[in-house]
Amino acid sequence: MRQFLDHDLKSSRVIAPAIGEEKGGFIPLPLRDVRPDVEIPFEALIKVKTKGETEPRFIPACPQGEVFKGEWLQKLQALEIQWLYYSQDDELRVLEYLDHCLEKVLPDDDRGPEEKVNLLYDTTLIFVRNFFSAEEMGSAPQMFRALRLIDNMFDLMKGGVDYYRSILDIRRHGHVLYNHCINVCFLGLAFVSFMGWDAKKAQDFGLGAMLHDIGLIHLKPELVDKHARKSALRPTDSHPALGYKMLSNMPGLRREVRYMALQHHENGDGSGYPGGLKINAIDPWARVLRILDHYDTLTGGGADKRPVSSKEALREMAALQERKTFDLNYFMNFIKFIGKT
Ligand SMILES: [Fe+2]
Ligand SMILES: [Fe+2]
Repeated sequence: MRQFLDHDLKSSRVIAPAIGEEKGGFIPLPLRDVRPDVEIPFEALIKVKTKGETEPRFIPACPQGEVFKGEWLQKLQALEIQWLYYSQDDELRVLEYLDHCLEKVLPDDDRGPEEKVNLLYDTTLIFVRNFFSAEEMGSAPQMFRALRLIDNMFDLMKGGVDYYRSILDIRRHGHVLYNHCINVCFLGLAFVSFMGWDAKKAQDFGLGAMLHDIGLIHLKPELVDKHARKSALRPTDSHPALGYKMLSNMPGLRREVRYMALQHHENGDGSGYPGGLKINAIDPWARVLRILDHYDTLTGGGADKRPVSSKEALREMAALQERKTFDLNYFMNFIKFIGKT
């Protein structure tokens, strides 16, 4: 099968466009994350549709344990193919491979912010997808990996504005819960770095941001999308309290992290949920998260809302601030932060 990419990629096969989300147990891996001439510890597939066939198929492109040739990468890039696929069963192997790539790429001074942030974002996206669909959520190895990814991102933030900008640019949307969680996590790490938080505090905050909507995923992963959409229309949704309960079952999390899940829909004027708390009763970390969460939702678009520009989002948020929705101090800092990028 390995010869497929050597010989068999002909124009008689039309490569189906990737949708970027799970389909039939196969998960897309951006081609940009694959290192040339490095062994891959999982089977890589590509999605093809032969003329006359109605449904696309997944074809083995490179077997587990083989070197992925640089010329194959060039060939796929020339065909504007942006995705490889892997089987869900191989996900931990894929994560190990990406960890290995990160070890090489992050310390390399010849690589720019965009490449580093992209690789870290893609790895974290796959990690969070895996975390949220695991039988035993929040196991020690999962937490260890989460903190390492967050640390890596916070380290990159020391690079300043160029890295903040890459974070803002890279965010993906599309009503998928784990995209939103990673957006909020990385945006949050850039923001608290801008505010001068120390590494330990930022790491815990990043973890809380990554897990803040975990209460939405007690359903099967394939339902997350629909559920997230529905919940956006249901302001009294129980996901903050449910998330708090789920995080309370994970050992070693600090109190503020659990409160980020519980209080991220509280508004300073008492109009939020589930507690209808006024600003002083809301944990400061949840107040920061409230701003990030709202900004990501506005700029990503909701179920029935078109995404708005950064400027427009800040304008809408400033209008809400007349009712004291957000913490004033953090909100002013956030405006400065966005203005800088
Ligand atoms: Fe939420
Ligand atoms: Fe959220």
